[in-house]
Amino acid sequence: KASQAAEKRGWHLYLVGGAVRDLLLAETADQLMIKDIDLVVDGFHKSADVGAGVELAKALQELYPAARLEIHGAFQTAALLWHKDPELNSLWVDIATARTEFYPYPAANPEVEASSIRQDLYRRDFTINALALRLTSPRSGELLDFFGGLLDLQAKQIRVLHANSFIEDPTRIYRGVRFAVRFGFDFEPRTEEYIRYAINSGVYDRTTQHNSRTPALQTRLKTELKHILEAPYWKSALQLLDNLQALQCIHHTLSLDAELLRQLRLLERCLHRFDPQLTLVHWQMRLEALIAHLEPKYREKVAKNLQLQEDSIHRLQNLAQTQAEVRELLPQLQRPSQIVQLLKKYDLPMLILIALQSPRSLRKQIWHYLTVLTHIQPILNGNDLKKLGYKPGPQYRQILDDILAATLDRVITNKPEAELFLST
Ligand code: CTP
Repeated sequence: KASQAAEKRGWHLYLVGGAVRDLLLAETADQLMIKDIDLVVDGFHKSADVGAGVELAKALQELYPAARLEIHGAFQTAALLWHKDPELNSLWVDIATARTEFYPYPAANPEVEASSIRQDLYRRDFTINALALRLTSPRSGELLDFFGGLLDLQAKQIRVLHANSFIEDPTRIYRGVRFAVRFGFDFEPRTEEYIRYAINSGVYDRTTQHNSRTPALQTRLKTELKHILEAPYWKSALQLLDNLQALQCIHHTLSLDAELLRQLRLLERCLHRFDPQLTLVHWQMRLEALIAHLEPKYREKVAKNLQLQEDSIHRLQNLAQTQAEVRELLPQLQRPSQIVQLLKKYDLPMLILIALQSPRSLRKQIWHYLTVLTHIQPILNGNDLKKLGYKPGPQYRQILDDILAATLDRVITNKPEAELFLST
């Protein structure tokens, strides 16, 4: 229907980007998991009007009323979203007009037919993402491969389209690493040189220095970090980023040393043990662990630049101080109730971050708190207090706290003892 709607208006429609790449890479249909489709509209005899993508999206939304339409005015792109549709499940379709603003050709130029889609593809990150599949007739089903993307897919290599690609957009380094690890590809040697050149020439200043011109870049870096850190291959991706010295895009002092690797391994064990229900956002915890590995004076700025959530920023701001407090006080505490009193002030992610960087003895105490002490309940509850003749009210909290402390310290171990404890 989309191609018919485009043809009716005299436009070409192309499937571009990751969907084409994944179609060509998949050996069988069930290997294909496309949730994100990018379409580009192009004029037939001349460049399509800049609003063509939006117009097509509106026409499609009328044909598919279940889809939600979003229009992004600044870029003249539109998206149709199917959220948990019984047939399509969740699907996101971006529709854009071929962008030609960088190399305007006169409309009468006979090469124009293919040129605007070519220019659109030339702006893209890697040859394997710069392939287009024509969906409109004539020649529907034709693969447009201006930059050798098909050969690179076969040769399993990640190659940029021009030397300045990483200088223009340093987050492409992270994208390249993600694709390399995900597909088991290598960087084409010259592309790897361009990455190293971009890093050596200080391109990370743009991703780490906050100013009004860079938030979009930092948002993109965060998005790429999310993609990487939530994927099953996140560890290999971090290793490759480190080999390329690209972790400097997060902070110029960040590298994946043995200590950080140890902490990341420990973090996985903590998440597995303490958060089986996935109540924490694991990719964010991994990112917090990376940032926590920086000197305390840098943490808050990096967290803010990457626009982490308020609670993450807050944690990283307070980590050094909380850690110092816990390190000083915890070894002095003997009774379990005192330990609970101290540690219950902190949330699970904070305790995990502290544990990652603590010596073994302290870590064991935090471990004991999380695995044993937090599960101990007071032996009496509110109903028991009512039965014992206590009037419900705010004093219940204090009484139950006292009973919990006595339970933790094993002053009392059963109900009759608890009742006796109360009467004294
Ligand atoms: N793109 C780019 N430079 C970027 C981000 C995106 O050139 N910094 C282009 C690529 O051509 C990419 C397309 O925009 O294929 C769509 O981007 P996105 O949906 O982020 O990536 P996909 O390639 O579709 O990959 P994924 O499988 O991760 O969705």
